[in-house]
Amino acid sequence: MNASIVNPPANVWNVEQRVKALLAKMTLAEKVGQMSQFNASEGYAPDYLADGLRAGLIGSVLNVVDLKVVNELQRIAVEESRLGIPLLVGRDVIHGFKTVMPIPLGQAATWNPGLATTAAQISALEAATTGVNWTFAPMMDISRDPRWGRIAESLGEDVFLASEMAVAMVEGFQGDDLSAPGSIAACAKHFAGYGAVESGRDYATTNIPESELRNVYLRPFKSAVDRGVVSIMTSFSDLNGVPGTGNEFLLRQILRDEWSFDGFVVSDWDSVRQLQIHGLTENDRESAYEAVTAGVDMEMAGDSYANHIASLVEEGRLSITTIDAAAANILRAKFRLGLFENAYTDPGALPPIANEHALGTAKTLALQSVVMLKNAGGLLPLSADKLRSVAVIGPLADAPYEQLGTWIFDGDAGLSITPLNAIRSLVSPDVDIRYLRAMETSRSRASEEFAEAVQLARESDVTILFLGEESILSGEAHSRADIGLPGAQGELVQRIREAGKPVIVVILAGRPLTLANILDNVDAILFAWHPGTMGGAAIADLLFGLESPSGKLPSTFPRMVGQIPIYYSQKNTGKPPSPEGIVHIDDINTFAPQVSLGMTSFHLDAGYTPLFPFGYGLSYAKFEYKHICTSAHEIRIGDTVTISAEVSNVGQVAAVEVVQLYIRDLVGSVTRPVRELKGFRRVNLEPGQAVVVEFDLHTNDLAFYGRDMSVVTEPGLFHAWIGGSSTASLRTEFRLVASE
Ligand code: NOJ
Repeated sequence: MNASIVNPPANVWNVEQRVKALLAKMTLAEKVGQMSQFNASEGYAPDYLADGLRAGLIGSVLNVVDLKVVNELQRIAVEESRLGIPLLVGRDVIHGFKTVMPIPLGQAATWNPGLATTAAQISALEAATTGVNWTFAPMMDISRDPRWGRIAESLGEDVFLASEMAVAMVEGFQGDDLSAPGSIAACAKHFAGYGAVESGRDYATTNIPESELRNVYLRPFKSAVDRGVVSIMTSFSDLNGVPGTGNEFLLRQILRDEWSFDGFVVSDWDSVRQLQIHGLTENDRESAYEAVTAGVDMEMAGDSYANHIASLVEEGRLSITTIDAAAANILRAKFRLGLFENAYTDPGALPPIANEHALGTAKTLALQSVVMLKNAGGLLPLSADKLRSVAVIGPLADAPYEQLGTWIFDGDAGLSITPLNAIRSLVSPDVDIRYLRAMETSRSRASEEFAEAVQLARESDVTILFLGEESILSGEAHSRADIGLPGAQGELVQRIREAGKPVIVVILAGRPLTLANILDNVDAILFAWHPGTMGGAAIADLLFGLESPSGKLPSTFPRMVGQIPIYYSQKNTGKPPSPEGIVHIDDINTFAPQVSLGMTSFHLDAGYTPLFPFGYGLSYAKFEYKHICTSAHEIRIGDTVTISAEVSNVGQVAAVEVVQLYIRDLVGSVTRPVRELKGFRRVNLEPGQAVVVEFDLHTNDLAFYGRDMSVVTEPGLFHAWIGGSSTASLRTEFRLVASE
């Protein structure tokens, strides 16, 4: 017998009893009401909203952030409906509320889960001032396709890093006590596989073998469920022939039966009705039937549930037990959030928005998220006292809204510190900062202002180009087929180079970009993602050396789109490439001899390596790794092995290095990736300082889903690397031996 069921903690027992007692009083219509969420962006003006609330026909609203309206909606629900059930008030609080943090992909580049927790806490507190008690975040779809616009919202390509960051964010939103003021329910989304949409085209189909689904795409969700995430959102996408919102395998077998999830599942916007458009059902009624049967507890922004569930129950097609379970999942969340004790929001009980702590955290996150991709000749950091003039050029140098990125419904661009403003206030008035936007938007093709830009570059000591993508170029339904710098930006770089002065490029973007065409034409590149409210201040501090860059790539940067998907934890193939075994043909249209060079797995025109690998990022310091050790050469199931290495700062400045541990399971009954991240740590080192960094690996960390989809840990040899990126070369090994 399971002890936790016999003896649950008092509050859990209490919640279950209260859910049961309330359910016993509810009519079928009221239960269906709990399962229905409506868009309230017009406030309580539409009659259906206030009337629906009074009649107990609405369990949740979304997109209302006017506190007066929210409190009034809660008042109607609590005081004027028969059973007084409070509302879940949902909102996309994705990477900040008024204070905008870097996009989630940028947050993943910090490799700093603790800071992501703090940022989510701040976002929750700010959102809670408007009565929002539920965010549709974090998105934890693993994505290995930078064409997909929603990669901006993701935590990158890697299972381990994404899981750590996702759990950290859930912790920040929900806190230790869900009912505490400022704690809001989180939502793990999108269940599941959305990040694998074909060719990165949003909403497209996914075909993911079950082994890959379980070993890769589901793992962050499992971690979030284990951490107690309150809700899960289904995916718009079709998974192996069954759209997420009708996917019983995902929502019942995996989520409920295998993982024992006791929160609730919400559809994505209108995705119940879309089951018909997918071609899974004939009409709305059948869509409601399929979604409820699959395990979708709440319908977002649609009325298929409201219109059809009751009659489906009356006809006996849906059982009342199924409806009770769905309503109970939602009520449980409301009790846990403490809404029955107090549904109203008193903003006076919460800290002011955009306070010093919020802005400070946004700046620290932005500082840590920036990845230095190139720094030829140590051009960076710039010394403000040695410069007389700096040309600041480009469409994103002074674009307060664009630096915020996608999903910033409530963000306040008025709070943004742009790079131009930050540079101006950081350097002394003796340094001449000359600014030219040069392009109206990042997409402009016009080059009329380029001559002036070149002139400015020629007359200045150094040029800093602010390039990339506006926020509209990433996010939902904003996928791109070509992920190079848009518009005439490539030409602008080329022209500026011809001015003959040092060129630094700072890129603000919502996704990894293909940068091979500019790489040789610039001296330094800082990749800043969309860095949020305080992005400019962080970038200026990095440019002028107040801090050293410490961000590391959470996604592989391809040389060209045709390499996608390219990610570090690939399988080896039977014909893995090596430098000797490839022929590189720059111009594929010229005669290419059919030679046998080992017949390995690569592209004639791109080779087999990415432009920048996962985990990569430069620093103003220089780090050396040596003395990798394993605490044991042989381990048995249940043991922990410690892998360590010495890391030293042999550079001139103090800096943080993200030390990374990778392993490879050399032989598996299901082939294993060539490398898997298993640990990381941010280490702050003074010049000349060395530390030994240790990682403990339990044999559970070596487990994977085997051929029969059960979790297996197989004996055999493991390689382990410690270093500053996924291409680390310092290696040791240990063997897992079968227990006698
Ligand atoms: C659709 C998006 O896919 C989802 O992530 C978001 O939370 C909902 N719309 C609500 O805005």
